[in-house]
Amino acid sequence: MVVPYKHEPFTDFTMEENRKEYEEALNYVKGELGKEYPLIINGEKIFTDDKTVSENPGNKKEVIGYVSKCSQELAEKAMQAADAAFQTWKKWDPAARANILFRASGMIRRRKHEFSAWLTYEAGKPWKEADADTAEAIDFLEYYARQMLRLKDGVEINSREVENNTFNYIPLGVGIAISPWNFAFAIMAGTTVGPMVAGNTMLLKPAKTTPVIAYKFMEVLLEAGLPDGVVNYIPGSSAEMGDYVVDHPRTRFINFTGSKKVGLHIAERAAKVQEGQIWMKRVIAEMGGKDTIIVDNTADLELAAEAITYSAFGFSGQKCSACSRAIIHEDVYDEVLDKVVNRTKELTVGATFNDNSKFMGPVNDQAAFDKVLDYIEIGKKEGKLMTGGNGDNSEGYFIQPTVFADLDPKSRIMQEEIFGPVVGFSKAKDFDELIDIANNTEYGLTGAVISDNREHLEQARQDFHVGNLYFNRGCTAAIVGYHPFGGFNMSGTDSKAGGPDYLLNFLQPKTVSDMF
Ligand code: NAD
Ligand code: ALA
Repeated sequence: MVVPYKHEPFTDFTMEENRKEYEEALNYVKGELGKEYPLIINGEKIFTDDKTVSENPGNKKEVIGYVSKCSQELAEKAMQAADAAFQTWKKWDPAARANILFRASGMIRRRKHEFSAWLTYEAGKPWKEADADTAEAIDFLEYYARQMLRLKDGVEINSREVENNTFNYIPLGVGIAISPWNFAFAIMAGTTVGPMVAGNTMLLKPAKTTPVIAYKFMEVLLEAGLPDGVVNYIPGSSAEMGDYVVDHPRTRFINFTGSKKVGLHIAERAAKVQEGQIWMKRVIAEMGGKDTIIVDNTADLELAAEAITYSAFGFSGQKCSACSRAIIHEDVYDEVLDKVVNRTKELTVGATFNDNSKFMGPVNDQAAFDKVLDYIEIGKKEGKLMTGGNGDNSEGYFIQPTVFADLDPKSRIMQEEIFGPVVGFSKAKDFDELIDIANNTEYGLTGAVISDNREHLEQARQDFHVGNLYFNRGCTAAIVGYHPFGGFNMSGTDSKAGGPDYLLNFLQPKTVSDMF
């Protein structure tokens, strides 16, 4: 009997005991830095000469690990291993597949701070953010295992007197999990184990800047009893090996989370039928966001300011769900802007691997640092810089939380995904205009409404076109099983990670009609 799903609680870092345990985990991980990591193909550890160097974004000189890079030849080997493993894995009792996820979850829970400490080192996550990422990874394991148990016997359908009709879900084949660095544990794990528990076999290609946490997860899966070849760990060059596996005729589906640009590139390549390919590939693509919080003139303004500040700058704005646009009713615009600017000025920025006092850590890497600072220059021309606006990459990639005011809703700052600690403000004359502006981007991932007017909230329920809409709270921090996550329009295929339909993306229903 499996107990009902409940999300993993977050660690309370106001308690000294918890802070001490986290420090011990950081010390342990520090002693593990700089090692070499192999690929894992069919259970075999393969070291290559060509390596990706994973570095600490908060201290560029510190190497997290040297990770072997998968070539096209080794990707082919991984594909063959996954293809062969599919023949047996698909026939495993779904409950036994789910058990592997439950075991893996238990193992991670027991070493929770250790995994979070890897995230603090490799992704620059503040402790609280790292803890939430690990909790979400545990949640994906626990939730998808239960969803498989729910789906394993199919769905009841009608049968006439002379027949016995059944409707069951069967897996698809070999899938490619391609994940981003920003939820380097949760999304990497979720996009792999969802399809895997459904009976598919996987090639796991983690993000370039966070391959070590993915390796640590692979170790757990193997220790939990995952058979060889079911998940194959193949970090490597996107241009060389990424395109190769996406194009491969034996690839049945691609489970991608990342930017719009790469998602569309993958969708286009996957649509081309290759020689020998006997199916249309499925592409599940969860992509970027340009997420808006709107503030009505009836709103609790303290709540509005808190929601905007936290959603804009948590993990330095590097969440697909981050608030990068604040659209405010003209009656309360000046007051909300003022409150957000004051709160933002109090936020601290700095390294997180040795200190829990900083609200924000570094951005991902030099490319992210350059991109965000370029946008800040654009913002200075398009609007009024209220606070922030500077970066320092002498040791790590640190950027001050930055607020721009008085932007045209069509300006680049208000339309393009920056993926950093930058939020722009625009004004609207009434609630209809608040909604119109909120909807005027090509994205549709998250959004929030801060209002005390029930009629307006109900209007937003209908008209605010985003996959995850929140009332009177911020627009980040979706929880698996509670806030299924995914977006509309150019935010992706809305596969709703952590939702009750997610596994159906990786299954095909089969009808059998048996006549007597
Ligand atoms: P990215 O698109 O640059 O990379 C995502 C992954 O794709 C990485 O693992 C990368 O190595 C891989 N990749 C790149 N080119 C490839 C190719 N040709 N073939 C195969 N793989 C390839 O995104 P990122 O910078 O890692 O992550 C940030 C982006 O992810 C943001 O746009 C953010 O909004 C989005 N994101 C979306 C969600 C969501 O659920 N909608 C969640 C998290 C992040
Ligand atoms: N779960 C993450 C959030 O909602 C993506 O911020």
